[in-house]
Amino acid sequence: MASAASSPAQRILALRELIEHHEHQYYVLDAPEISDADYDKLMRELLALEQAHPELANECSPTVRVGGKAREGFVKVPHSSPMLSLDNALNEAELLAFDRRVRELLGDEPFRYVAELKLDGLSMAVHYNHERLQKAITRGDGSVGEDVTENARTIRSLPLRVQQSGAFETRGEVIMTRRAFERLNEQREQDALPLYANPRNSAAGSLRVLDSTVTAARQLEYMTYFYFVDGQPALDSHWDSLEHLKSLGFKVNPERRLCSNVEELIAFCNEFEVRRESLPYEIDGVVAKIDSIPQQRKLGYTSKAPRWAIAYKYAARDAETIVEDILIQVGRTGALTPVAALQPVAVGGVTVARATLHNEEEIARLGLKIGDTVLVERSGDVIPKVVKVVSSAPEGRSFAMPTECPICGGPVTRLEGEVAVRCGNVNCPARLKQSIEHFASRTVMDIDGMGEVLVDQLVEKGKIKNVADLYELKLEELEELERMGKKSAAKIVQNIDASRKRPLARVIAGLGIPFVGSRTAQILADTFGNLKDIAEFPEERLQGAEEIGPKVAAAIRFYFSDDRNRELVQRLREAGLTMEQEVKGKTVGPLTGQTFVLTGTMPTLKREEAKALIEEAGGKVSGSVSKKTTYLVTGEDAGSKLDKAKALEIKIIEEAELLGLLGK
Ligand code: IVH
Repeated sequence: MASAASSPAQRILALRELIEHHEHQYYVLDAPEISDADYDKLMRELLALEQAHPELANECSPTVRVGGKAREGFVKVPHSSPMLSLDNALNEAELLAFDRRVRELLGDEPFRYVAELKLDGLSMAVHYNHERLQKAITRGDGSVGEDVTENARTIRSLPLRVQQSGAFETRGEVIMTRRAFERLNEQREQDALPLYANPRNSAAGSLRVLDSTVTAARQLEYMTYFYFVDGQPALDSHWDSLEHLKSLGFKVNPERRLCSNVEELIAFCNEFEVRRESLPYEIDGVVAKIDSIPQQRKLGYTSKAPRWAIAYKYAARDAETIVEDILIQVGRTGALTPVAALQPVAVGGVTVARATLHNEEEIARLGLKIGDTVLVERSGDVIPKVVKVVSSAPEGRSFAMPTECPICGGPVTRLEGEVAVRCGNVNCPARLKQSIEHFASRTVMDIDGMGEVLVDQLVEKGKIKNVADLYELKLEELEELERMGKKSAAKIVQNIDASRKRPLARVIAGLGIPFVGSRTAQILADTFGNLKDIAEFPEERLQGAEEIGPKVAAAIRFYFSDDRNRELVQRLREAGLTMEQEVKGKTVGPLTGQTFVLTGTMPTLKREEAKALIEEAGGKVSGSVSKKTTYLVTGEDAGSKLDKAKALEIKIIEEAELLGLLGK
C-alpha cells in the first residue's frame, strides 16, 4: 500500500486497487475482509482526492459506483450476435424428451450437461477491451438493446477492470436479491410510493433509469453465464468458460453442476426446487446447457432458441380463484387500499385468501368486478397480487371507492396527481396505531420499546390519541400496563425523553405526510431550516427545494391546511422537539426552482458572474438544454443550444432580461 507521503496520483492508484480488491471480496466472493465503515473511509478518501485532482479521474475508478449525472435517454446498440431465448420444459417428461432429441442428433457421442439456476432477472451483455469495461447493453429485442453502461458501472459485482487485454463479451443476468428488494419496498412504502411487484420488475426498473445514482442505490447484482469473443463462445467447454470468468473476477453462480446424464440433471432440478425458497434471490427454474461447444455447434439453433440448451421451469406460483368481495384497508398515511377477498386457494404451497388491488385505477385496468374469476400470483414474500381476470361473472358487481372513510366516517379526498384516495382525519383510529409506530420507529424518532404491542395497549386504553400524547405519558400510566415492569417503564419514559433531541428531519418524517419519507424530510429540513416555513410556504416556494415536485408540495400544503395537524405540530413544539436547524441547501430566492442555461458572449456579464448572480438568487445553472430548462440566456454567437431550446420551446432571453429577473 502507498504510504501517506506518496503523491496524489500514486495514492489514487493504490486506493483504487485496494477498493477493487475489497469490492471483489465482498460483492463477488461474499467474504469481506474489512468493515463497511473502513470500506466507506477508503471510498471517501478516493472521492476527495479525485475531486481535488479532476485530471486524475477515470471512468474505471470505483468511485463511478456511486453514479453520476442523469442522461436524457438510452442509445440503441446492436448485439454482437442475437441474444436468444430458451425453449421450456414444463415437467420431467419434457426434459426427458429434450434429452432424447439431443442423443439422436449427436449419434452415439457421449456428452455432459452444465446445470445452472435460471435467475429471475434480466439479461445484459457487457463488453470489455483493453482491460476495461467498455459497454453494457440490455437484451432489448434480442438483436438490438439499449446502452446502459453508466448504470451498469454502479453494479458492484461487475468488474470495471479485468486482467485480460483482448476484446471479449460476457452475458449474464442482472438481479436484485430478496433482501435488497424488501428494503427498497420498505423505503418506498415509507415514502408513500407505489411498491414494486417483484425483484425482477424492480431490477428492470432500476437498470433502466436515466439517473445512475438511482441504480447505484438499488444494489443490483450481476451473475454471468456466457463468455464470448466476436459474438461466439471462445472456449471449447461451457464449464471452462464459467471458470475462466470466475478467475477474471466475475460473479459466477456457485450453484451449478456438471451432469453426466439426464438423471443427474433431474436430481439437480429437484434439489433446487426444494432449496428455492432459501436462496437469497429468486429463480424460476434450471437452465441445462450441453457442455461441449463443438457439440453445441453441431446441434445448432431453431429460429428462436438453441437446440443445445433448455429451461426447466418450476411450477408457476399462481392459481385461479374467485373474488368474493372487495374490502378497504386504511393505512398510516390515510390511503384507502382496496383488497380482494378471495375464495381461499393454494398458491405455491400457501393458502391465499387476500390479494392487494393497490388502487381504483388498478381495478379499472384489470376490468375487475366482484364475482369474477382471477389469476392470483405470489412472488417471493410479496403480498399476493391479482394479475388478470380469467372470466367475468355474468352478474358481477362493480366496485366503487367509498366517499367516506370506512373506519371513521370522515370524508376522503384524492390529491391532484395522486392515484390514492385518502382519509384526511389524522385522528382516524385506523391510522392512529400505525402512525404512532411509524413515528417511534428506528429510522424516525427512534423510541426504543415503543413497538406494536405497547402502542396497541396505549391506544386501546385511550392513553394516547396522537403522537403528541407520547410526550405527556406519565411513568405511572406505563407501570399500570400488563406485563410492564417498573424498570422497563422507566426506560421507556427515558427513551421518549431522549427523542426530543432528534434532528428536524426526523420530526418532519414522523408527521406521516404522504410522500414525505426520510429522504424528502431531510431535503426539506436542509433547504428551509424550520418547520414554521414549511407549514406556511405556498406550493411554489416548496417546489423551489431540490427534488420537491408539485405532488409532494401539494401533499405538504394539504397536510398543513388541516387545523388538527397544525395543532399537533404546535403541541410537539411545546413538548420541546427540534423545530429548527441550520439551512444547508442552496439559497432560496426569487429564482428558486428555475434552471438557466447560458450560451454565447453576453454584453457585460462574464459567464461566471452571471452564474454566481443566478445562484445567489436561488436559481440553478445547467450546462445543457433539456425539458427542465426554464430560460436559455443568449449572447453573441449562440451555438447549438439555441436550436435545441427553440425545438423544445424553451423561453429565450438576453442579458438585459436576465438582469430584470434578478431585480437589477
Ligand atoms: S442462457 C440462448 N442461463 O432466461 C441462451 N439464461 O429464457 C439464453 N436466464 O433471456 C440464455 N438464468 O434472461 C441462460 N443461467 C442462465 C440463466 C438465463 C436466467 C434468463 C435469461 C434469458 C432467459 C431465457
